[in-house]
Parts: sequence; structure tokens; C-alpha cells
Amino acid sequence: MKNSFMNQVQRSALLRVHVIMNSLVFLAIVTFASTAVSNDDIGKELFLKGAVPACAVCHTLKAAGAVGEVGPSMNVLQPDTARVMNAVKNGIGIMPAYANLTPEQLQILSEYVAKASRQ
Ligand code: HEC
Repeated sequence: MKNSFMNQVQRSALLRVHVIMNSLVFLAIVTFASTAVSNDDIGKELFLKGAVPACAVCHTLKAAGAVGEVGPSMNVLQPDTARVMNAVKNGIGIMPAYANLTPEQLQILSEYVAKASRQ
């Protein structure tokens, strides 16, 4: 009697360990998947809405699906990274400077635009 009760307790404890382990594996996978975002994805996100006001409002960039027409088309201009960085950091003409981007965001965005404008 006592034995089978203990067995049951042990089994349910084992089951709980299993459930916890499975949840941990699941969490690990979710965490890995969400950190496996490429710089291209981040750059595109910044171009479309992360940078405020969004670059896409004023510029065309086919790879990002952006069709803005206030400023020059990135596909026509095909600026290199340094040129994008300079425009975003300091502003140019009616284009505002983006003081609220971190240096890392500025770098990722500029590299993305340079690359995507040639696609
Ligand atoms: C309000 C509209 C507007 C927004 C928003 C905007 N731009 Fe511009 N951008 C312009 C205009 C207009 C020009 C042309 C300025 C000139 O030559 O007088 C320009 C120029 C540029 C240039 C060319 C600079 C050069 O050296 O000739 C690049 C690159 C550029 N923008 C990238 C971006 C990026 C990246 C963003 C988002 C962080 C952005 N722009 C947001 C309007 C905008």
C-alpha cells in the first residue's frame, strides 16, 4: 500500500520534472529564434518605422517595399554607407537629422540602405 503510494508520488514528481524540462527547452528555442534576427532585418525595420520620421515616408527603396517620393530614390542614388550615415546623422536639405538613433542603429541602418539600394 505504502509502496504504491510512494510510487505514485515519485511518478508525479517525475512528470513535473518532464514538464519543466520541456518548458525550458521550448523557452530556449524561442529565445534563440528571437535573437537570430539579422542586421538586414533590423536595418529594414529602422528604415520602415524604427527611425522617426520613417525614411520610407520620403524615400523609395524597393527591397524594403518603400515608395516615398519626397527625397531621392535610394535605388537611383545608390549611396554608400558613409553617405547614408552622413545624411542621417546631420540631416540634409529638408531631411531632418536623427539624433535619437544609437551609433549601432546608425551603422546598421546605413549599411542596410547601401546594400539594399543595389538589390
Ligand atoms: C521628410 C522627408 C525625409 C525623411 C523622413 C528622410 N529623408 Fe533622406 N532625404 C530627403 C530629401 C528631400 C533629400 C535630398 C536633400 C538634398 O539633397 O537637399 C534626402 C537625402 C537623403 C540621402 C542622400 C544624401 C546625399 O548625400 O545626397 C540619403 C542617403 C537619405 N536621404 C537617406 C535617408 C534615410 C536613411 C532616412 C531615414 C533615417 C531618411 N533619408 C529620411 C528627405 C527625407
